[in-house]
Amino acid sequence: MATPMTQESQAQTAQIVMQAKQLSAFYGENRAVKDVNLDIERNCVTAFIGPSGCGKTTILRCFNRMHELVPSAHVKGQVLLDNENIYDPMIDPVQIRRRVGMVFQKPNPFPTMSIYDNAVAGLKLAGVRKRDVLDDLAEKSLRRAALWDEVKDRLYKASGASLSGGQQQRLCIARALAIEPEVLLMDEPCSALDPVATSKIEDLIQELQRDYTVIIVTHNMQQAARVSDYTAFFYLGELIEFGKTERIFEKPEKKATEDYITGKFG
Ligand SMILES: Nc1ncnc2c1ncn2[C@@H]1O[C@H](COP(=O)(O)OP(=O)(O)O)[C@@H](O)[C@H]1O
Ligand SMILES: [Mg+2]
Repeated sequence: MATPMTQESQAQTAQIVMQAKQLSAFYGENRAVKDVNLDIERNCVTAFIGPSGCGKTTILRCFNRMHELVPSAHVKGQVLLDNENIYDPMIDPVQIRRRVGMVFQKPNPFPTMSIYDNAVAGLKLAGVRKRDVLDDLAEKSLRRAALWDEVKDRLYKASGASLSGGQQQRLCIARALAIEPEVLLMDEPCSALDPVATSKIEDLIQELQRDYTVIIVTHNMQQAARVSDYTAFFYLGELIEFGKTERIFEKPEKKATEDYITGKFG
């Protein structure tokens, strides 16, 4: 157990990549995220936990300006990325979505596109046309997503849909990594996968944090404990408790956090 002193000095030297400041998110009149203040440390994995409907997906989508794509949805407060407010009117949301990539609950590769075309889809949208650049980034991102060895012999022949669920999710991770984001948001990335595929994705998350910052939403407490450095517990749209993962799981300060992680509700 770290003493309060060392925790404080760690916090001072920590590199913060994203910050939510008094962040609220609305669907029409309904406020789904309420005045959240949160710091995300660079090259760390942060887990978002909490019962269904508490706002985890909504806050994740505020972090790359996807929330506003829902009609009637809007955001109040700030989200800083490298100390710059991503909601500043001068900022192009398309650029933010490149810097903050996202992987969804259900693997969503383009089913009829080849593995190669799936991997480079985001790059092509971003205007990259040079074949050697695309080839290079396709291989690099498929390697980073720990999929290369399984697909390198059928890159152009096999479609996205021909892969197993776990492979499809790693292909979606490769597609997100190909555009070289700083932060990767993962919304329950293993919820549709079997235990073997899940453990591959968990290993991969540990690898990725060397080069990226990962925020993962999970309903699986063991998964949060295994993969994350920090954990944020949300309840009814509020951030109830945030801290080092070991501390949250071993010594939660709030009753609601303790009840949730011990399975009393949720
Ligand atoms: N597209 C939407 N339109 C209206 N309300 C929504 C929409 N998506 C989510 N909500 C509401 O926002 C709240 C938070 O949902 P969500 O962020 O999906 O929670 P979680 O991911 O923690 O399960 C819920 O009350 C949900 O009903
Ligand atoms: Mg959700």
